[in-house]
Amino acid sequence: MELPPPLRQAVDRALEGVALADLATTASALSERYRQERRDGRSHVGSRREALAYLAVRLPATYAAVRASLAAVAQARPDFAPRTVLDIGAGPGTALWAASDCWPGLGDALLIEASPVFRDCGEGLAAEAHLPPVTWRTADVARDTIESAPRDLVIMAYVLNELDPELRPKVLERLWRATADTLVIVEPGTPAGWQRILDARRQLIDLGAHVIAPCPHAHDCPLAPPDWCHFAERVARSRMHRQAKGADVPWEDEKFSYLALSRTAAPAAGARIIARPRKGSGRVTLKLCRSDGSAGEQLYSRRDGELYKRASRSGWGSSL
Ligand SMILES: C[S@@+](CC[C@H](N)C(=O)[O-])C[C@H]1O[C@@H](n2cnc3c(N)ncnc32)[C@H](O)[C@@H]1O
Repeated sequence: MELPPPLRQAVDRALEGVALADLATTASALSERYRQERRDGRSHVGSRREALAYLAVRLPATYAAVRASLAAVAQARPDFAPRTVLDIGAGPGTALWAASDCWPGLGDALLIEASPVFRDCGEGLAAEAHLPPVTWRTADVARDTIESAPRDLVIMAYVLNELDPELRPKVLERLWRATADTLVIVEPGTPAGWQRILDARRQLIDLGAHVIAPCPHAHDCPLAPPDWCHFAERVARSRMHRQAKGADVPWEDEKFSYLALSRTAAPAAGARIIARPRKGSGRVTLKLCRSDGSAGEQLYSRRDGELYKRASRSGWGSSL
C-alpha cells in the first residue's frame, strides 16, 4: 500500500533538510521502544526529532494498517457513511488521512493527542491538504474525559499498548460512550497486541457492541496461543524510509491486529481468511475463521468451480 500522494508529499516536505544520520539513529531508538512496548512514563515521541522519525519509518505502516481495517468496515457495512470522526491518540493524524481516503464524505474530525510535538507535526501535515475541518485537542485519554458528543466513527490505532493495563478498561468504556456508530481499534500484530484486542472484544461485547470485523461471529475467539489473529499489509518504502532504516528492500510487511465494533449489527458475514493463502496448481488452501465460531483450513480445487475462483482471488484478511 502506498500513502495517498498529498500525504506522501506532506511527509516529504516535513522531512526536507533533516540530517539522515540523525534520523536513522532516532528512528532506530524509537523502533526499539515500540518493540519493547516500554511504558516508563515517558512519551515515545517527546521531541520534534522523534516525531519526524515516526513520520519517516512508522506512519506509512500505521497508515496501511488503519486503512486496511477501515476497508474491512466499509466492506462489512456498505451502508456506513460516517460524517464525524474522533481519533484517540492521533499522533500525526494518521487515522484521519486513512478515514478520509475511505470515506471522502467525512464532515468533521476531532483528534485527541497527548504529545504536543506530535500534534504540531500533524497540524503541519494537514495544513495544505483537503481534509475535513479538524479540531486538535491535547489531552490524556486515560485521565481526561472525552468532551465530545458521540461521533459516527471512533478510531484508536496503536495506542492501547501505550496505556497502563489497569487503565485500559476505563478508556475503552469512554471510547464506547463516545461512539455513535462504529469503533475501530488497531494494534501491532503481535501475540501481545492480539491479547489486548481480545480483552477489548470481550469487554465491548459485554457493553452491547456488535463485532463487525474481522471476526464473522461474536463467539469466543477459536484461536489459542501460540497461534494469534493478525493480518499483514505490504507497505511501500520511500527512499528516505529505506535510508532511515538502513534497508535495501523497497517494501516491508506491517503486521497488525484490529477490531471493529458497531452499535448496529452488520449483515451476516462470510468467513474471514486469517493467514496468507497457500496456492498450488489448481488448488488453494485457506485458513478461515467461520461464522459458527470455528477456525480451520479449507482446501478449494478447480472442482469447486466458482468457489475455487473466488478463493484463489482472495487474500489474507478478505472475507469469503
Ligand atoms: C504509536 S502512536 C500512534 C499514532 C497514530 N494513531 C498512528 O496510528 O499513527 C501512539 C499515540 O498515542 C498517543 N497516546 C498514548 N497515550 C495516550 C493518552 N493517554 N492520551 C492521549 N494520547 C495518548 C501517543 O502520544 C502517540 O501519539
